[in-house]
Amino acid sequence: MPKDFLPAMGTPAMLPFYDLFGRAAGIDTAYWQLVAQAGIAPGSRVLEIGCGSGNVLLLAARAVPDALFTGLDPDQDALTLAAKKAAELGATITFEQGYAQQLPAADGSVDRVLSSLMLHHLPAEDQAAALREVHRVLAPGGSLHLVDLDHDPRSGTPRSPLHLAMRGVHAVLAKLGRAEPRGHGHGDRAHPGHTPTEHAPGAHPTGEQHGHGHGHGHGHGGPARPVTDLLAEAGFAEAVLLGRRPTRLGPLSFYRAER
Ligand SMILES: C[S@@+](CC[C@H](N)C(=O)[O-])C[C@H]1O[C@@H](n2cnc3c(N)ncnc32)[C@H](O)[C@@H]1O
Repeated sequence: MPKDFLPAMGTPAMLPFYDLFGRAAGIDTAYWQLVAQAGIAPGSRVLEIGCGSGNVLLLAARAVPDALFTGLDPDQDALTLAAKKAAELGATITFEQGYAQQLPAADGSVDRVLSSLMLHHLPAEDQAAALREVHRVLAPGGSLHLVDLDHDPRSGTPRSPLHLAMRGVHAVLAKLGRAEPRGHGHGDRAHPGHTPTEHAPGAHPTGEQHGHGHGHGHGHGGPARPVTDLLAEAGFAEAVLLGRRPTRLGPLSFYRAER
């Protein structure tokens, strides 16, 4: 079982501001887009990996209340927040603590997997492992619907004043010793020796090698890879980039992969 993870917004201290920040950054509208792309049918089994505070699943559960929803995340605080929001809305969603690289689901037991803004939180080798796990748990005919930033928001040029402000807050928290990623249940430093850029996401949607000089130094080796390549290597029959959209944190890319 993995022991560490990078929480939403990079630090546990900022979790209470995640939803507000997402709206301000223009990310929340992507949630609807992802849910629409997933084409969830009543009765289908839906798993979100890295569900965080539950925004995607809450929308999905409102759209298709008869589907069976599970949200997975290593961050118990985020799951508690998500469960509270679900209870307030009367949505039935199961929230489970766990890691995308080791899904607590049987082979072929899920019809739709959703992943929103999660992939860039994983080091390169864990991205590959997580996508292999998604392929394993999907039923034949099932699909993965994934949206992610095209870059690590903690590195590179800030894309907006809001992005710059987020970096500033993070820098202040780091100075106060409160910007460490979180160890599972311990508050330890995650991925010791990793720099933020080592979590650079896997792909540039145009197929370029992503990172542009900042995404290649993962502590365990292995360069950053295009998401469509990772999906193909994980065994998906068809993996496509559906589109991109701008946000105040930079562009988001949407992918669909068929089992
Ligand atoms: C930016 S947040 C996105 C949350 C939510 N999906 C959304 O779009 O609002 C990334 C989430 O990925 C989770 N995460 C980090 N490492 C993970 C892992 N190994 N497996 C699953 N989730 C992980 C974090 O705890 C965090 O909640």
